[in-house]
Amino acid sequence: MAHKPYRPKDHFFKKAHDQGLRARSAFKIDEIARRFSLFRKGQAVLDMGAAPGGFLQIIADQVGPSGKVIGVDLVAIRPLGPNVKTAVLDVLADDFDQQLLAMYGGAFDAVVSDLAPKTSGIRATDEARSIRLAGKALELARTRGKVGGSFVAKLFMGGDFEVFRDEVRAAFEEVKVVRPEATRGASIEVYLVGLRRRAA
Ligand SMILES: C[S@@+](CC[C@H](N)C(=O)[O-])C[C@H]1O[C@@H](n2cnc3c(N)ncnc32)[C@H](O)[C@@H]1O
Repeated sequence: MAHKPYRPKDHFFKKAHDQGLRARSAFKIDEIARRFSLFRKGQAVLDMGAAPGGFLQIIADQVGPSGKVIGVDLVAIRPLGPNVKTAVLDVLADDFDQQLLAMYGGAFDAVVSDLAPKTSGIRATDEARSIRLAGKALELARTRGKVGGSFVAKLFMGGDFEVFRDEVRAAFEEVKVVRPEATRGASIEVYLVGLRRRAA
């Protein structure tokens, strides 16, 4: 009989399961949000690359029933509370901005992206795809985010990381690079956090 490698479920996986969270990544946004006091009751937040909904659960709780969270992904997201609205959308599609506007017409207090490309195994390709997705999130933060609002985007370290960080710096008064505790050991991902969006 073939022997399957032993893959222990790590601490964060178990903790997520115990707390009814859909993904261990929930702890990442929770850590970032608490560290920078990102979300407040009543705010509107856009979550890009939101399936299965770990980030959405944390954000929905922090903005409360008077807040609004919009989650989009290539994959359908099982329904969450009444303050969460989701749709199956490709953020890189030509009509994405229009579709998003139809879902929510207001300005966002925060734009969050946990978008991750399907990895090809070719590092330069994966980094370029990751930056492209994060770039789309930054575009949305500029066009649909409030002045004074915040931004969080995951991206793979390497390649044009510094160029992208400079773009975020141009748009936000303060920029932090964070590797949350719940990030897997070997992962090359980090989160760029932009605080207080500058007026255009
Ligand atoms: C790491 S997962 C997100 C996990 C999520 N933050 C959570 O807490 O449950 C990354 C997601 O990005 C999505 N994604 C990748 N490319 C996309 C695209 N072009 N448009 C929309 N979603 C995309 C994937 O389908 C995947 O669900």
